[in-house]
Amino acid sequence: MDLPFLEKTLLGLVLATIAAIVVSKLRCKCFKLPPGPVPVPVFGNWLQVGDDLNHCNLTDLAKKFGDIFLLRMGQRNLVVVSSPELAKEVLHTQGGQDMVFTVYGEHWRKMRRIMTVPFFTNKVVQQYRQGWEFEAASVVEDVKKNPESATNGIVLRRRLQLLMYNNMYRIMFDRRFESEEDHLFVKLKALNGERSRLAQSFEYNYGDFIPVLRPFLRGYLRICKEVKDRRLQLFKDYFVDERKKLASTKSMSNGGPKCAIDHILDAQHKGEINEDNVLYIVENINVAAIETTLWSIEWAIAELVNHPEIQKKLRNELDTVLGPGHQITEPDIHNLPYLQAVIKETLRLRMAIPLLVPHMNLHDAKLGSYDIPAESKILVNAWWLANNPAHWKNPEEFRPERFLEEESKVEANGNDFRYLPFGVGRRSCPGIILALPILGITVGRLVQNFELLPPPGQSKIDTSEKGGQFSLHILKHSTIVAKPRSF
Ligand code: HEM
Repeated sequence: MDLPFLEKTLLGLVLATIAAIVVSKLRCKCFKLPPGPVPVPVFGNWLQVGDDLNHCNLTDLAKKFGDIFLLRMGQRNLVVVSSPELAKEVLHTQGGQDMVFTVYGEHWRKMRRIMTVPFFTNKVVQQYRQGWEFEAASVVEDVKKNPESATNGIVLRRRLQLLMYNNMYRIMFDRRFESEEDHLFVKLKALNGERSRLAQSFEYNYGDFIPVLRPFLRGYLRICKEVKDRRLQLFKDYFVDERKKLASTKSMSNGGPKCAIDHILDAQHKGEINEDNVLYIVENINVAAIETTLWSIEWAIAELVNHPEIQKKLRNELDTVLGPGHQITEPDIHNLPYLQAVIKETLRLRMAIPLLVPHMNLHDAKLGSYDIPAESKILVNAWWLANNPAHWKNPEEFRPERFLEEESKVEANGNDFRYLPFGVGRRSCPGIILALPILGITVGRLVQNFELLPPPGQSKIDTSEKGGQFSLHILKHSTIVAKPRSF
């Protein structure tokens, strides 16, 4: 008898399910996999977990399944690690050799080496710190000029975004944008914003999790490519080529200070990298540096507005250590422990990249007492490491004092595996050397010059979070009242 189509399909599904269960049982005999929710065929745990792989959902799963658990996202194994000991196993390069969970090769090593001198040394900090101080002073000036600031309040973030672009475009191209209306700034902001929306979209994962879905992603991938091409063209036409033109003029060849792109172009001339690599570096800095630091400044301000006593204590420190009227500069940060503690506490509670960057193991590996099949993706829930009450006193509280009291030895550079806002190990964030002084100067200047308050009629600003796979930022850009202080 010929079975109707529907019954055939159902029978097929039942057989596929039985086969999947048998296969997974057989696999369990030789593999001791980490615990996790029971997967269904084809989709794995995807339908249970949903599209929102953010730090909160993964924390809830850690509470249920433990410090290491396995999610089967379609065909992809996703291992989530939530204890300092396991994080150490994943991220630490034992003796500099053990790269089990870090897939990268010669190319990555070369790019990171080429980027170090132009971007990630103390010399760069010293070359640009006055520029960053100028940018912070210019935010203070613009805010003071706007009568709305002291009455109904302004969306401070908009102006701070210009500051962050200027801080980074000074380093890259020795350039800055005059105002929020600058047409090039508007264009850059729009294209970079478009890119980050596309990257946050869960469609990004579909093809990774279920390879047969790849053909259906063509539309999405086409848009990604278009946006990428337009961005790279913009970087090339308006920045890289402009700098090349300038470099060929007499005044530059007389030896003005080099900016990052001059070093990168030198590497291209030496044949170490090609033009695509040059543009890739520019694109990489746009993605990694600007928004992360901006979110952190935005969170610091939001927490200070909602904790007036902490804001006052910080202002007192600035006034006492620096003296009335002296505007904070980069070297001052070393003498301002409370400011440093405020920044650390912001990065703990509101970690910009809460799951770090996914790691992968090329071959079967051991993690804890479990077997991890080759080509699994490993996420470290760094946010939970830094917010787990088993490891921190009242972690839900914004309390900078913890970094001067019980956690006084903990630094942002990964010296303690409970606190990894910049990751740790070979893949850790090289931008920490720039991010910390920029945060200190910017937050310091704002608190020195203004009393920062919620808008009229509100006792607090809304600090709801928007968490994604690669980000944790404030959901609504807050309106903030900035009342100028008189010195
Ligand atoms: C508050 C600001 C910032 C935070 C919280 C932050 C955080 C991070 C984190 C968590 C990673 C991944 C580390 C890992 O998976 O182990 C990362 C990677 C990276 N960051 Fe940052 N970052 C910030 C600012 C910057 C800045 C200012 C720059 C550049 C000027 C930068 C450049 C990079 C680069 C190039 C990578 C990729 C490193 C690699 O894959 O080798 N970051 N960042």
